[in-house]
Amino acid sequence: MKKHILVTGGAGFIGSHTVLELLQKGYKVTVIDNLSNSHELSLKRVEELTGQTVQFIPMDLLDKESLFTLFSEQRFDSVIHFAGSKAVGESVEKPLYYYKNNIGGTLNLCEAMLENNVTNIIFSSSATVYGDPSESPLKENSGLKAVNPYGRTKLYLEEIFRDLCAARPHLHAIMLRYFNPVGAHPSGRIGEDPSGIPNNLMPYVTQVAVGKLPRLYIFGDDYPTEDGTGVRDYIHVSDLARGHMKALDRFGGKAGFEVYNLGTGKGYSVLEIVKTFERVTGVRIPYEITERRSGDAAACFADPAKAEKELNWRAEKNLADMCRDAWNWQQKNPNGYRP
Ligand code: WQD
Repeated sequence: MKKHILVTGGAGFIGSHTVLELLQKGYKVTVIDNLSNSHELSLKRVEELTGQTVQFIPMDLLDKESLFTLFSEQRFDSVIHFAGSKAVGESVEKPLYYYKNNIGGTLNLCEAMLENNVTNIIFSSSATVYGDPSESPLKENSGLKAVNPYGRTKLYLEEIFRDLCAARPHLHAIMLRYFNPVGAHPSGRIGEDPSGIPNNLMPYVTQVAVGKLPRLYIFGDDYPTEDGTGVRDYIHVSDLARGHMKALDRFGGKAGFEVYNLGTGKGYSVLEIVKTFERVTGVRIPYEITERRSGDAAACFADPAKAEKELNWRAEKNLADMCRDAWNWQQKNPNGYRP
């Protein structure tokens, strides 16, 4: 009997890559997504790539009635919870929306799960819970200090899961702290498709490369780093998706609250990303150095030792793979999933 996984936000960038891995592993998959920052076409392409089908139900986690109906009608073995808003800048402008959407939606999900005795959940957390770390590499027990409302929703939700696990011993909640997910499935059929002007570095670079944006603005070159530009732990989205498969394998074992960093353990600067992208693709990326972006950390990268040991997982793709696959997706889909 195939295990049935509910994936919230499964039509998104990381979600669609994870759904692909789930199908290839032989799971039955149901996706709920309100399509506020994603496209159903991503799931159609996942079906093409895998030759499998996905049950997709358009749904908002704030629609409690529909959510409860779903859980009463279908049996899920585990939940992978991606659904949530994730733009740092937007969260500063609209904190109430972020708390309502990210925390309110998750509380509805937890209520529906516990009412129906679904006790396995993987939560999409983020390295943003480390705030502006004074040092890297970051371990799971490094200091936590979110510095914007988006990051606070992730931090508060981790603590909510910790409390739920303390109250319900059968609950198994695994927090996966993503560092900087980039790249795309090597086919170029699914990838990152941010709405509007990209906030994140790699989609901005690929849009410059494809001619949609004139140049990259590098936010500051006066950080205490090798070349003065910000350093991050970029991880290929397919490696990230595989990390979720390894986390799923832990269900059935000892329940409780668990946290894992999903990063490569290597930090690369903005200028290193630009240079690697140009070398790998042959496309020049014009750029201009501008002021620092408020809230940015100088350097943030993972110590992935705990995930390597306990999940038997490590990132396998290198920076060249990330640049090549990100460009392959953008080149084949200049407007993302839009016609
Ligand atoms: C990376 C580096 C910028 C854009 C954010 C969220 C985090 C997660 C990933 C959701 C930094 C520099 C960027 C640009 C630039 N999102 N940069 N010009 O800020 O590390 O993390 O996205 O979970 O929660 O905080 O990623 O890609 O925005 O920035 O110079 O146009 O690139 O200063 O050094 P970040 P990023």
